[in-house]
Amino acid sequence: MSITERHHDSGRIRLVNLVKEFEGRDGLTRAVDSINLETRPGELVTLLGPSGCGKTTTLRMVAGFETPTSGEITLDGADVTRLTPDKRPMSMVFQSYALFPHLSVYDNVAYGLRLRKMDKAAIDEAVQSVLTSMDLVKFAKRAPNQLSGGQQQRVALARAMVMRPKVLLFDEPLSNLDAKLRVQMRSEIRSVQQRLGITALYVTHDQDEAMALSDRIVVMNHGRIEQVGTPDEIYRSPETVFVADFIGSANFLDPGHVTLLDDRARVDVLGTQREIPAAPGSAEASSHVVLVRPESVVVRPAQADGPEESVHGRRGRILSAVFYGSLVEYEIDTDAGTIVAEVSDPNPDEVLAEGDVVDVDFPASRGRLLPA
Ligand SMILES: Nc1ncnc2c1ncn2[C@@H]1O[C@H](COP(=O)(O)OP(=O)(O)O)[C@@H](O)[C@H]1O
Ligand SMILES: [Mg+2]
Repeated sequence: MSITERHHDSGRIRLVNLVKEFEGRDGLTRAVDSINLETRPGELVTLLGPSGCGKTTTLRMVAGFETPTSGEITLDGADVTRLTPDKRPMSMVFQSYALFPHLSVYDNVAYGLRLRKMDKAAIDEAVQSVLTSMDLVKFAKRAPNQLSGGQQQRVALARAMVMRPKVLLFDEPLSNLDAKLRVQMRSEIRSVQQRLGITALYVTHDQDEAMALSDRIVVMNHGRIEQVGTPDEIYRSPETVFVADFIGSANFLDPGHVTLLDDRARVDVLGTQREIPAAPGSAEASSHVVLVRPESVVVRPAQADGPEESVHGRRGRILSAVFYGSLVEYEIDTDAGTIVAEVSDPNPDEVLAEGDVVDVDFPASRGRLLPA
């Protein structure tokens, strides 16, 4: 089987009630608090969340560097919970600068197989095959510092792939790079992962990186999973305030009197009654907020002699206007609190200024009721 042909149902990781506790000076820390997750073969799944939420601990348990306190990890149906890392068909991909600087690309890629004491001909065949599939043959004799950052990242991936893992594991591999290189590298990682069709579990605290790379995102908080979904689902249909706040920016408005109607709710926001989508947990919650993304806020100059409270939306005053080129961001003071609005592709003649009086509104379909 060549490195680019993969079995259709290979690389399915299951985490079942996975728990990890650490003994510390001030008692036990529950770093991972009973998580359940299943990856699909060929999928790139990102663990996303703030520092300390348990991402690395989860990944290290999958890799075998950390033993779970309780729970189970299976790979393609086989229990791997207690196996040492070398017995698991998984490879950790390190930052590209973790390449051996004094070894050629070829020797960097061959390194792990030599440790396994494979015979020379078999090593050569495996290395050539990986270099070919990753378009690195012409760089085989070069040292890492004779390659671009993107090419080095590909070598780091080749070094992992030559071990024929069923799963690739990444722990913030791009966190020490400057912004531009990070963007370049993440598309390199994504394209190689898709071309090889290999399952990947990727840890990051960077929401843009997660949005750009992932088939699905697992949002974690305090050792627990808050939500699992495609980037689109996570952004458009967050289920908690934490998720809505962590991914993108968010206004949270007072819903006024709430009437729940299945997956929708009637609310009274910004001076208007409207029916908006409601997150699944809304029915059980005793208090709620309405999420409105800044790009969904509609801002219009108020009529100079208009009524104090406009018929639709709410009267407000621009606190600040920041011009970013492709968009203008306004902070608007209203009696419903400060509302952030983003207007994309702004017409230069229509950019509002600090102190301008405006009407603020949003389309009902762009609001979302969340449990508070
Ligand atoms: N070896 C350890 N000993 C004690 N506490 C740890 C250890 N590793 C991680 N922790 C704690 O577990 C929690 C989760 O850490 P970690 O998984 O590294 O988070 P993340 O990768 O999301 O930043 C943190 O509170 C951290 O301090
Ligand atoms: Mg970490």
